Amino acid sequence: MENSHEILLVALIATFAVIHLSRAEDQEGFISLDCGLPPSEASPYIEPDTGLWYSSDSGFIQSGKIGKIDASLPKTLKSYVTLRYFPDGIRNCYNLSVKQGTNYLMRVTALYGNYDALNITPKYDLYVGPNYWVTIDLENRISGQSEEIIYIPRSNSLDLCLVKTGTTTPMITSVELRPLANDLYITESGSLKSLKRYFLTSSDTILSYPNDVNDRIWEPKFDPEWTQISTTLEANNSNGFLVPRNVLKTAAIPANATARFNITEELDFPDDQIYLYLHFSEVQSLPISESREFDIFWNGQRQFDKTISPEYLKTTTIYSTTPVTCKGGVCNLELIRTTNSTLPPLLNAIELYAVVEFPQLETNENDVVAIRKIKAIYGLNRIAWQGDPCVPQKFLWDNLNCNSTDISTPPSITYLNLSSSGLEGTIAAEIQNLTHLEKLDLSNNNLTGDVPEFLANMKYLMLINLSKNNLIGFIPQALLDREKEGLQLFVDGEHRCLSGLCVTVTEKKIPVKTVAFVSSATVMAIIVVLVLIFLFKKKKSSNSEVLQPLPIKLGANVTSTNISEISIEVKKKKFTYSEVMEITKNLARPLGEGGFGVVYHGDINGSQQVAVKLLSESSTQGYKEFKAEVELLMRVHHVNLVSLVGYCDERGHLALVYEYMSNGDLKHHLSGKHDSSVLKWSTRLQIAMDAALGLEYLHIGCRPPMVHRDVKSTNILLDERFSAKLADFGLSRSVQLGGEYHVPTVVAGTPGYLDPDVNRGDITGIMDPNLHGDYNSHSAWRALELAMLCANPSSEKRPNMFQVVIELKECLTSEMSMKGNGQDMYSQSSPKVSMSYDTKDLPSAR
Ligand SMILES: *[C@@H]1O[C@H](CO)[C@@H](O)[C@H](O)[C@H]1NC(C)=O
Ligand SMILES: *[C@@H]1O[C@H](CO)[C@@H](O)[C@H](O)[C@H]1NC(C)=O
Ligand SMILES: *[C@@H]1O[C@H](CO)[C@@H](O)[C@H](O)[C@H]1NC(C)=O
Ligand SMILES: *[C@@H]1O[C@H](CO)[C@@H](O)[C@H](O)[C@H]1NC(C)=O
Ligand SMILES: *[C@@H]1O[C@H](CO)[C@@H](O)[C@H](O)[C@H]1NC(C)=O
Ligand SMILES: *[C@@H]1O[C@H](CO)[C@@H](O)[C@H](O)[C@H]1NC(C)=O
Ligand SMILES: *[C@@H]1O[C@H](CO)[C@@H](O)[C@H](O)[C@H]1NC(C)=O
Ligand SMILES: *[C@@H]1O[C@H](CO)[C@@H](O)[C@H](O)[C@H]1NC(C)=O
Ligand SMILES: *[C@@H]1O[C@H](CO)[C@@H](O)[C@H](O)[C@H]1NC(C)=O
Ligand SMILES: *[C@@H]1O[C@H](CO)[C@@H](O)[C@H](O)[C@H]1NC(C)=O
Repeated sequence: MENSHEILLVALIATFAVIHLSRAEDQEGFISLDCGLPPSEASPYIEPDTGLWYSSDSGFIQSGKIGKIDASLPKTLKSYVTLRYFPDGIRNCYNLSVKQGTNYLMRVTALYGNYDALNITPKYDLYVGPNYWVTIDLENRISGQSEEIIYIPRSNSLDLCLVKTGTTTPMITSVELRPLANDLYITESGSLKSLKRYFLTSSDTILSYPNDVNDRIWEPKFDPEWTQISTTLEANNSNGFLVPRNVLKTAAIPANATARFNITEELDFPDDQIYLYLHFSEVQSLPISESREFDIFWNGQRQFDKTISPEYLKTTTIYSTTPVTCKGGVCNLELIRTTNSTLPPLLNAIELYAVVEFPQLETNENDVVAIRKIKAIYGLNRIAWQGDPCVPQKFLWDNLNCNSTDISTPPSITYLNLSSSGLEGTIAAEIQNLTHLEKLDLSNNNLTGDVPEFLANMKYLMLINLSKNNLIGFIPQALLDREKEGLQLFVDGEHRCLSGLCVTVTEKKIPVKTVAFVSSATVMAIIVVLVLIFLFKKKKSSNSEVLQPLPIKLGANVTSTNISEISIEVKKKKFTYSEVMEITKNLARPLGEGGFGVVYHGDINGSQQVAVKLLSESSTQGYKEFKAEVELLMRVHHVNLVSLVGYCDERGHLALVYEYMSNGDLKHHLSGKHDSSVLKWSTRLQIAMDAALGLEYLHIGCRPPMVHRDVKSTNILLDERFSAKLADFGLSRSVQLGGEYHVPTVVAGTPGYLDPDVNRGDITGIMDPNLHGDYNSHSAWRALELAMLCANPSSEKRPNMFQVVIELKECLTSEMSMKGNGQDMYSQSSPKVSMSYDTKDLPSAR
């Protein structure tokens, strides 16, 4: 059979000379791409011959070059003038935005037109997603090749790929998609490729849009053995198929009225599975004495069980519901009049489709969406990163791998290697949607920000390489836990400790290096202050602020905070100033004065109590610093650091909203203004440990490390269980340090206080008399020694926070065991701790 895919361009031009401009809404859902149309040229435009809106294809493909057919060729459709060709890469894909589950008629046209003046006609393959559709071979097709398929996309994006198969360069002229009703052109499997669509007329008119609202192309066909009958009236075409009325105005009958109506079609591919569609509409008003009745024989077999008698000016469509193969690739249709019929059979139009199996499932849609977002986020314009990432396997995107062994399950991405890819920015959250990922290599890039917690939730991950980047912050505990279960995690540096959980510390003295990395001077100040606050009685001096030990009786048990209880990041809220006013009931209840403003009590929705610090306008801290601080505080999560609930940054109104600590600050308890109870020795040790844990987190858990620089009793807050939390840490650092990551060398903040009694060896003279000797002297001595060690002028000899925590914990354990009181409650935090530090740095025996 003659090739139906050749478009008779000349005829088209002639036919569409007069077209009423159609309304754009009639083309709803249409995608009409004029390939190679420079986006700068008027796009979209109305194709003068059809009234269709065409736009440039440039938004749908990242690759290819623009060409134009030889100007000396006869005039053709405007959309056929430019084209896109693909000298680079094997597979180049259009990414079309479609509606999942919609039945589309997709048409691709390629018209070579000697655009490159080489006279080499291209031959290449077209793929829909991962599946081969058809070969485009323009040899001897001077007017081009047009291919159609009726396809239901499985996702909201559709990849149309041109695959180079030989030496010639793939090129494309237009891409058109037309949504069809979902109950039309149904196939048992695969998709339907158009083979034939013609109407029986002696004219040479080709019909398409707007005659056909679905923009099917109807070619004219006539045979000398037929006679045409026609009408000028319009038929009712509303049987779903919406065959153009102009198609239904003419019909053919056999010239020999007693003969059969006989049509044969030869297939290019003899094994094709064929679906047949026949459209009938009676064009003659039959007197009552006349009848037109016939049976349909398809490849010699009577079909459709029913005698056909087309109604006057009303469409009947007869179609197959199962596909057939035609013997030897020759399909034969016969319409045979019944004995009763007074008139010969009639036929208006015919369509033939072949089944195209698309066996390969597309890659898991979530993976596709995620990897495309990752591609976009990092600007990875790789020629091979087009179309389906995993399949067909020969076009697997480079630097990734997939699990695509089972053809009946959608492949998924298991390996992503973007090492040395010049990535910038943070680790993209979209990575977590690659749920089947087993290996992730992002090493040797310029990535910044945190190591995200979500990596720990990717259950198949076995290897993560993040080394040689500029990542900061802590490594999430959950990820460290995964590491213990066998995940291989490669990151820069060696400071992997998170709040004392040095899971993989193998090297000795690592914590000491960490301390040196921070500021030894600062660390010293912190420790001195910390320990001394609790241990030593105040010398009579005017400096009553810090060191006044205060007797407090504690009724409830003090519960140790398990150090693995690192709080998971919660979303911080941004409040408006009016919300801040509402929360604080118009600043009704001041709690105290902080570094940069007054702190007020507040509550959110009557449920969550908060402390709101309004930054005074006189504060030297600028807006930029405030913002930087908020961002910093957002990163910091630890049970021994007061957590930020939210903030307000309307210009002129800066506020930080913290969790509320019901027992106020430590100074308050030590100053005697609280009540008459004495903070027990064990409670004091616990508070010291809590504070040390908080500091240790800042020094070791955070990268870059942070220094509090203003540890004092007013900045140590106590919750209802007398667990201690540090406050004001980020703010004070920022104000006093100014620049980023600057390591201070001078002692700042509130200086520590070392009582001269310490040298005398009389513990009773040193301890707070209000404790009335209610402490274990062994633990008191250990604590004292720790304090002395912290005060050592040589930074080499000073312990780091990790060691301080360990030592304080042992003091506490010893204190509790001597008192026979709650000993077990401190051991719960131990199993996860695997310590490894140089004990020479710790106090030796007295
Ligand atoms: C492909 O198209 C979809 C739908 O319009 C879009 O979300 C996605 O970003 C596109 N991908 C690429 C690589 O252009
Ligand atoms: C066309 O036919 C359908 C049913 O076949 C009918 O519902 C509709 O009213 C008809 N339209 C006209 C204009 O006669
Ligand atoms: C018309 O067809 C019949 C049946 O096929 C045949 O007998 C007859 O000869 C034909 N007439 C002409 C003029 O071809
Ligand atoms: C119809 O066409 C087929 C194939 O060309 C032929 O074998 C058959 O004899 C024809 N039938 C009639 C009645 O002409
Ligand atoms: C022929 O027509 C008559 C009357 O219309 C009908 O009763 C009969 O069933 C028809 N016979 C066939 C074979 O269609
Ligand atoms: C690959 O996918 C198959 C089917 O989904 C699954 O059974 C198999 O475990 C997967 N293999 C790997 C290595 O992920
Ligand atoms: C990632 O690719 C780089 C460079 O090709 C290679 O050296 C490295 O081993 C790969 N990473 C993994 C985890 O396979
Ligand atoms: C992950 O996929 C889900 C849908 O499966 C989507 O809602 C979510 O936004 C995606 N997350 C990211 C970070 O892209
Ligand atoms: C991790 O990445 C770094 C930098 O590319 C490389 O030197 C190192 O060998 C990688 N480690 C593994 C286990 O792939
Ligand atoms: C990081 O960025 C800088 C500046 O753009 C560049 O010189 C350097 O090569 C990049 N490093 C990596 C590993 O990509």
